[in-house]
Amino acid sequence: MANDNKGWDPSQLRKCDLEFEEIPRFVYNDPRVDEFISENKPVVILGSKLAKAAEKWTLDYLEKNMGNGDFTVFLSKNHKFKYYDDKKSMLKSNSDFIPPTKKLDMKLPEFIKRLREWKKGDDRLYLQQGLNNTVGPAIVHDFLNFDWNFCTSKQSKHNWGPLTSNLLLIGMEGNVTPCHYDEQQNLFAQVHGYKRCILFPPDQFDCLYPHPVHHPHDRQSMVDFDKPDYSRFPKFREARGCETVIGPGEVLYIPMYWWHHIESLMRGSYTVTVNFWYKGGPNGTVTYPLKGHQKVAVMRNVEKMLLDVLQDPKEIPPLLRAMVLGRYTE
Ligand code: FUM
Ligand code: FE
Repeated sequence: MANDNKGWDPSQLRKCDLEFEEIPRFVYNDPRVDEFISENKPVVILGSKLAKAAEKWTLDYLEKNMGNGDFTVFLSKNHKFKYYDDKKSMLKSNSDFIPPTKKLDMKLPEFIKRLREWKKGDDRLYLQQGLNNTVGPAIVHDFLNFDWNFCTSKQSKHNWGPLTSNLLLIGMEGNVTPCHYDEQQNLFAQVHGYKRCILFPPDQFDCLYPHPVHHPHDRQSMVDFDKPDYSRFPKFREARGCETVIGPGEVLYIPMYWWHHIESLMRGSYTVTVNFWYKGGPNGTVTYPLKGHQKVAVMRNVEKMLLDVLQDPKEIPPLLRAMVLGRYTE
């Protein structure tokens, strides 16, 4: 992968069996940025001032100014932080689910102390907290100085729904958010350190094997990218994706329903990112054939409806098999 900015080198990337195309990179006022966004395709936006006001968010600054609120911090025994839905993990059908990470409330100084003192072999931490009104006045000031014109112009030009949240992520070098998709549009603003982002379009659904919708790992791929089990997931070999490494000041547009695997580079520094999440826009006129993301939405609805009527997730596969095998298969 190209490494023009010299802030990292390829040996810092984790091994992955797949090969990727590169996500294009354009300066913020290049008309191709909006062409990509309007086609729901990922693009790296250079030179915007979207989260420039957070440039000064070093650990010292955050420790001093973040306030005394509790922050959500995930703790993992390995480098992976696979998301799970707390509510779904409480369902009776998921009683044997063991969460892969622990979710803790932590004050920022405690988190930063552990980040600074971390050594190989210790549990890893990943702070993931929506920016809210518990933060101190200097952070509020910086937040207000984000380039809101930039993101609201993208919102209105591309007919997105409202901004839902700004997630602050502070990660240790080498942390990985395994492959998953979100149901929102995301402007992913990198503030400190470098992250590798591997993306796949929604039509790669069958190569990425998402967990069932009722599972706590809904929207997450079942494939372990470190050690893919090809006997269970043979089509993973065919998955076609694209990648980039983003650094400070760069913004990646992650389209709604696009799969993404994100890694803070190994042997880099800690990473700080701010996510700007927007709801998708109204559907407008639907044209056929449906697009990949629309088919994913249909499949999610079918799964949800079947669970609603059958009640027991174990009844879903035999029903689907009875419907399809021999009738819609050769
Ligand atoms: O680790 C990450 O930065 C993940 C972000 C996301 O999934 O949106
Ligand atoms: Fe995500």
